[in-house]
Amino acid sequence: MIAKMQTTPAPHHAKVQARRWPNRELPETAEDDGASTIPELSEVAKACRRCPLWRNATQTVFGEGPDKAKVIFVGEQPGDQEDLAGKPFVGPAGKVFDAILDDAGVDRLKVYVTNAVKHFKFEPRGKRRIHSKPNAGEVQACRWWLDKELDLIKPNLAVALGATAAQSLLGKVVPIMKMRGAVVEREDGLRVFVTIHPSFILRIREPADKQAERERFLKDMKAVKTLMAA
Ligand code: URA
Repeated sequence: MIAKMQTTPAPHHAKVQARRWPNRELPETAEDDGASTIPELSEVAKACRRCPLWRNATQTVFGEGPDKAKVIFVGEQPGDQEDLAGKPFVGPAGKVFDAILDDAGVDRLKVYVTNAVKHFKFEPRGKRRIHSKPNAGEVQACRWWLDKELDLIKPNLAVALGATAAQSLLGKVVPIMKMRGAVVEREDGLRVFVTIHPSFILRIREPADKQAERERFLKDMKAVKTLMAA
């Protein structure tokens, strides 16, 4: 199914003003200083101060993959391990993602993998850092980077892994379970394939249910592989 959707484009160069977070100590916002490749853009993003999440995170976790990838996978935000490693999808959810991509015959090295939000948001609990969902303002602030990644890579398909990614890519709240497997065409022509976030599989305890969900996600990744070629 290809659904056409009216999306709200990000106000392209609109800055998220520091006054939204009234903290006088906020340093200068990282600006696009003419980055024309992903490595250059990633370098600029290291100094990102577009929202306050940088304060507690170890580093910006930028997207990774070929500049001219045909498909871009978008997750929610880096987790604990990604925050430490500085790379997207290298922790438990990343391992599930890698294994299923492999089963579907999609080479992770040939695709671009990124997140809607590029700093780890968490609540400290003892020695642990517990994932905390980014809010709409944080997603909106970070969409500036995602738009730049899309501008540079010009993929022919984006895969929204879960609700935060879908919201960032499509500019509205997307009911994931209802839309799962659908391809939504944005006004700029980019096709967005909607599916679950791989961490959803990790959270299922009942083995049969977990296996069934893994199969469904595998089916989605096989569909992505077919769409990549189209
Ligand atoms: N979850 C995400 O959404 N992204 C990552 O990079 C890791 C876990």
